[in-house]
Amino acid sequence: MKTKIDIAVIGLGVMGANMALNLAERGFSVVAFDVNEERRHDIIKRHKPLRAAKLMTVEDLSELINQLSTPRRIVLSVPAGPIVDIICQDLMAAGLEPADVVVDTGNSQWRDSIARGQSYTDKFNFFTCAISGGELGARFGPSLMPSGDKAAWQRLKPMWQAISARVDPISGYEIARTQVDQPLPEGEPCAEYIGPIGSGHFVKMVHNGIEYADMQMIAEIVQFMRQILAMSAPEVGAVFSQWNKGKLQSYLIGITADILQTIDPKTGQPLVDMILDQAGQKGTGSWTAREALELGVPANAIAASVFARFLSTQKKVRQIGAVQLTGPIIRTEAKAEWIDKLADALYCSKICSYAQGFELMSAADKENNWILDYVSIAKIWRAGCVIRANFLNDIANAYQTEPNLINLMLAERFTDRLAKSQLAWREVLAKAVMQGMPMLAISAAMGYYDCYREADSSASLIQAMRDYFGSHTYARKDQDTKQHFHYDWHFGSGEHLVEH
Ligand code: 6PG
Repeated sequence: MKTKIDIAVIGLGVMGANMALNLAERGFSVVAFDVNEERRHDIIKRHKPLRAAKLMTVEDLSELINQLSTPRRIVLSVPAGPIVDIICQDLMAAGLEPADVVVDTGNSQWRDSIARGQSYTDKFNFFTCAISGGELGARFGPSLMPSGDKAAWQRLKPMWQAISARVDPISGYEIARTQVDQPLPEGEPCAEYIGPIGSGHFVKMVHNGIEYADMQMIAEIVQFMRQILAMSAPEVGAVFSQWNKGKLQSYLIGITADILQTIDPKTGQPLVDMILDQAGQKGTGSWTAREALELGVPANAIAASVFARFLSTQKKVRQIGAVQLTGPIIRTEAKAEWIDKLADALYCSKICSYAQGFELMSAADKENNWILDYVSIAKIWRAGCVIRANFLNDIANAYQTEPNLINLMLAERFTDRLAKSQLAWREVLAKAVMQGMPMLAISAAMGYYDCYREADSSASLIQAMRDYFGSHTYARKDQDTKQHFHYDWHFGSGEHLVEH
């Protein structure tokens, strides 16, 4: 009797192929399928030299179904959108059974995942697991955000925790894995159950929103160093290498150091200076900003980072504006005075962007009653994913200490660090403004921080204006706030209590 295969991977693009090899290397036999014959051949070639479990490819889904041990476990690694349903339909036609589990690992929209979970009920177990960490992550250790039926998770958990990134439980640092045939390191896996179907994709979407903000804030700090401190890209890269050993340590800080110190072989210039300054986006950051608007969460630094990418695509208009729109003459500042201030400004802004991400997850959690575990989410983001950083240990500890934390900035460790660094943060922003250097995300983060410092805000005037032109009524500070008043701004009959 032929031994049946442990798991299937459908879709052998960058993420799917590397996940399949990771699974095989961790001892799970894999049957892989892609419509593209070259991809099927390529993965067999890459698998051959590995000390790994069996990996075979098939030419159709019926064969895939037949090869698998039951109840089956099938991973989809295909673009978000209709293709997910097309393959699910094809799998059902090929003999999928109700106890089988199909796992969508794409960057699918979380509402689509909920709808699929409902529409495939009783047909098969539709499960999702968002994956973060790009190509190397998929191959050697991603961060995984699984959600759906708990029983399905129990059947996937051993594999997911075997292929995921790992963290040293003592240091809290990522145990880096970038070579083939490396033994599976001990340590805490970055794959933990998130919650009911859809919650995992929501959490991944927030991860991407934070990723956008992280990237934008780094870019703004680098621009300050280049334009105002007149530093070369390699010089700035060297500073980032130093920063990557301290409180700012993160994957994105590390790759920034690498990128800025990379020389273009064609021109001998820093490669980054040869790259067209128009940022692309597949859309996950926009989804996060949209959800924030839907849920009424002030994730302005995340939204600003999305708008910054839109602005970057307006290259032609920016070239005209550079000539026609007046700004100050940039005066170079002394490097030594600013490097530490810039580190503080980046760190404070980062705290705000994570606070916004967790505020967004909390709002969605309440709306959907997911009962998310924020300690666990912070912990599985410590390694493998794009926003991985030692900083996530501090966030996990903050939620461990205060499970009902209403905002990350109010965790004692962050309140103290913001207090120590907020002046430097302000100086950096003030200098950037006076030197005409845009800091869309960092200034948004400062606005978020200062708005949460305002016990009495300008919203009183907003309410008065709304009542003035639209009789939209207002509450009074000195009355029961459930009472609504309208003031007769036009005919002088004074204020009226309005029964709603
Ligand atoms: C990850 C990344 C990844 C991201 C792509 C495209 O977690 O591995 O977030 O999922 O979607 O890198 O990102 P853009 O939205 O910038 O195109």
